[in-house]
Amino acid sequence: MKIATFGVEMWMNEFENHCRYNLAETCVDSITLGELIDMAGVDNSVLGELRGMRMGYGAIEGSDRLRDAVAGLYETQSRENILTTHGTIGANALVHQTLISRGDHVIAIVPTYQQHYSIPESIGAEVELLHLRPENGFLPDLNELRAMMRPDTRMIATNNPNNPTGALMDRAMLAEIAEIARGSEAWVLCDEVYRGTDQTGDGYTASICDLYDRGISTAGMSKAYSLAGLRVGWVAGPQALLEKIMIHRDYNTISVGGIDEYFSALALESRAQILERAHRITRGTSKSWQIGSRRSR
Ligand SMILES: Cc1ncc(COP(=O)(O)O)c(C=O)c1O
Repeated sequence: MKIATFGVEMWMNEFENHCRYNLAETCVDSITLGELIDMAGVDNSVLGELRGMRMGYGAIEGSDRLRDAVAGLYETQSRENILTTHGTIGANALVHQTLISRGDHVIAIVPTYQQHYSIPESIGAEVELLHLRPENGFLPDLNELRAMMRPDTRMIATNNPNNPTGALMDRAMLAEIAEIARGSEAWVLCDEVYRGTDQTGDGYTASICDLYDRGISTAGMSKAYSLAGLRVGWVAGPQALLEKIMIHRDYNTISVGGIDEYFSALALESRAQILERAHRITRGTSKSWQIGSRRSR
């Protein structure tokens, strides 16, 4: 399978671990496992639990504990609607591989993470780009989206909050996108890896999987939760779709590492503390955080 080179990843690979100041960082400053354990307040129990962990493949679809914690991030999802993956990047790749075939019409809202147009292109889909513009506050023009829709549109791929612009679609706008998609029975894939970092309230905007029966939300531990090194992500969506994704996932994942899932569950169960720190940093009120003190994507 031919695929375009992943521009931002290649650029980051070259520079991110050798630069003094990483101004291209996209995660909330990563925390150490020690900081996670302190924030979770579980100091004495962790080693015992790790020692007792049997290093088999573990729960194939993701541990119940983690899937329950992830489901708790959504309004209408339960364990059965969550599948764990190798990062959000793994979740996105699996959704595209599962749903897109040669010749399908896909609308990708850009700029965005390159997966959302280069993977469908590599599969042979007809990918049309809907450009975000500064004059619209980098929010999609929904009339333009309506005009691009076709009876055979298979997917609208988007990202909220948006990387790289930071623009945030609210619940009403997501619901309108769902209505537009519904007319063609199209899927809406929303990469929500930055969910939790909104500038107000609890940081969580609405999720497409809670708004639309063909809505798929992908996310992971890297950004708001400051734990990119765990390489854990997930797909949240209809159970029947997850069963189809499993067919592909059996070929390239088997299961996600048990240690990674363990610490991810711990983090999500302690997300109040983790997000309190994240919001101090991303909302500009942190005194302790220093640019460039850590290195990660
Ligand atoms: C929009 C977007 N999606 C997915 C990813 C990959 O995230 P993860 O580290 O969870 O695989 C990134 C990483 O920068 C991203 O910006």
